[in-house]
Amino acid sequence: MNKKVCIIFGGKSVEHEISIISANSILNNIDMRKYKVFGIFISKKGEFHEAIYRINKSLKYNFIIKKQNKVLFSGDSNKNVIIMNKNQIRSKTKIDIFFPIIHGTGGEDGKIQGLLELLNKPYVGCDVESSSICMDKILTKEILSNKLVPTTEFLHFSKDEWKDDESSITKEVVKKIAFPCFVKASNLGSSVGVFKVKNKKELKNKVRDAFKFSERILVEQAVLRPEEIEVSVLEDKKIIVSTPGRVIPSDDFYSYNAKYLDGESIIEIPYKRAMNAPSLMHELKVTSKKVFQILLCSGMARVDFLFGSTKSQKKAKLYLSEVNTIPGFTEISMFPKLLSNDGIKLKKIIDSLISSAEVKFKKRDKLTTDYY
Ligand SMILES: Nc1ncnc2c1ncn2[C@@H]1O[C@H](COP(=O)(O)OP(=O)(O)O)[C@@H](O)[C@H]1O
Ligand SMILES: [Mg+2]
Repeated sequence: MNKKVCIIFGGKSVEHEISIISANSILNNIDMRKYKVFGIFISKKGEFHEAIYRINKSLKYNFIIKKQNKVLFSGDSNKNVIIMNKNQIRSKTKIDIFFPIIHGTGGEDGKIQGLLELLNKPYVGCDVESSSICMDKILTKEILSNKLVPTTEFLHFSKDEWKDDESSITKEVVKKIAFPCFVKASNLGSSVGVFKVKNKKELKNKVRDAFKFSERILVEQAVLRPEEIEVSVLEDKKIIVSTPGRVIPSDDFYSYNAKYLDGESIIEIPYKRAMNAPSLMHELKVTSKKVFQILLCSGMARVDFLFGSTKSQKKAKLYLSEVNTIPGFTEISMFPKLLSNDGIKLKKIIDSLISSAEVKFKKRDKLTTDYY
């Protein structure tokens, strides 16, 4: 019998809409001869609904949200998803593999992974620990800089620390980081809560703005006129690292507007500078794999870099920027595009992700949980 794969999408996240597009793109590319697809939609309010699919006029599949059908989860592994309608049980289903595709808050930070872990079923992508580390820009940088992966100079502080001693933190920023710098909320995505700051006055204002999104803030040195590079990492039986690509943002930096709204950012696949510089190509690939392993990633990740100079390092070099564990999955997103450029099409990516989820689950399931 075909395995039942449940795509979980939407979410209480600023990337809710992108997640819907990503989910539809998976729906249109998953091998329906091999898998039976089921959908769970999480609304912006955080409610779980059943999502069914239909084929539209342009012969594309589309998820349709059954607002009246709520989803409950059960520890009974033979009937782990229960569909409720007006407080009545409508059906019970056994999901074999979960495929969370919620970008950002609630989906990429280990929270949904925790729920799936308790359901004791395989799920696609990074586990709880790895997801929460990668979502946290401060933890990611702390861990990677300890492992000698180059990242820009940074410092971080909490809301209370800022309240207690704003002036010494400002002095430290001026001394250690200097301007321009980037102020970032520690755990968001899509450039929300990310600000480029040119002086002390802006620092004060943007720190205040960033604290609206997070209790902890990161201030990091700016890479000047950076080239933004992205690499896809896919785990099948082994770790596959794509040829890098470059994003040329339409804005001063790759802001929310440049990512999703103005449609004017340009993509360069493959990244030309690396195609002409074997050592840079090697560094990008080796570092991406190393970062994937250090941060305990599984299944997939998109590893982002900045190439350029900084105030303290005049010679242009490569800096690890961040790791996205549930990268955009739309047909025009970098993650599938980079792999597709290397001949790995979306259908194959989805297949690899599902099979590596099953392998990971089997390994974990063998671990002893009894002491005697
Ligand atoms: N240190 C930096 N130097 C130059 N540009 C940066 C720096 N940090 C971030 N940026 C710019 O801000 C964008 C968003 O920052 P990033 O850390 O990737 O956050 P997000 O998780 O929201 O994508 C980057 O794509 C880049 O354009
Ligand atoms: Mg980014």
